[in-house]
Amino acid sequence: MAEKGGPPRRLKVRVKTAKRRSAASTRWLERQLNDPYVARAKSEGYRARSAYKLIEIDDRYHVLGAGKRVVDLGAAPGGWSEVAVARTGSTDTDPHVVAIDYLDMDPIPGVVILKKDFLDDDAPAALEAALGGHRADVVMSDMAAPTTGHRPTDHLRTIHLCEVAADFAESILKPGGHFVAKVFQGGTEGQLLANLKRSFATVHHVKPPASRAESVELYLVAKGFRGQS
Ligand SMILES: C[S@@+](CC[C@H](N)C(=O)[O-])C[C@H]1O[C@@H](n2cnc3c(N)ncnc32)[C@H](O)[C@@H]1O
Repeated sequence: MAEKGGPPRRLKVRVKTAKRRSAASTRWLERQLNDPYVARAKSEGYRARSAYKLIEIDDRYHVLGAGKRVVDLGAAPGGWSEVAVARTGSTDTDPHVVAIDYLDMDPIPGVVILKKDFLDDDAPAALEAALGGHRADVVMSDMAAPTTGHRPTDHLRTIHLCEVAADFAESILKPGGHFVAKVFQGGTEGQLLANLKRSFATVHHVKPPASRAESVELYLVAKGFRGQS
């Protein structure tokens, strides 16, 4: 029973090792079972705990909002899209959220889903068509390249995805629009950061509490697109 005045004490779940389960998957399972964000996502009906990263970013930086048009890059399984639907009021009859991933994604009411590699040459045109020719208010990317285990390579591949996402954002955003993207520790550097600072009124790096402390991910929040030069 919960102590008076304090939160209920959660007992840590320990997972026994099993013959067919590797040590790494036992650790993963134990982490999932003890993660309060996993439990919260289950009880609040989000399909991924990552939804809370966007909720925390948006609560602090106010990028989403009723009626806004949102592009979700690297959207599967769909936690960020679900948050975007809730905060924009997108519906199937008037969809304001467009999602892209090369993985399968179960349908979400109010979301137009493209199953496609964002790095394909025709992806920007497909996203623009899915927006019905409208410009976007928000481009958000939680894309991560599959990890190789070689940290410098993983870093470069994720930065590349972020650069392509930033180029796309600058081609599709309305003036005043916002760009949110996953980057790796160390944040956005060099030319990309300089370009973003030129194109947006403010640029922040943020580590939302829902992002695991041991993860090297950070998020870039660029607000107030100045418009195409
Ligand atoms: C961390 S997950 C996104 C989780 C999502 N934000 C959510 O809340 O459910 C990253 C996704 O990026 C996708 N991704 C990575 N590179 C991509 C690419 N080039 N084109 C499309 N999707 C990509 C992966 O398939 C993966 O589903």
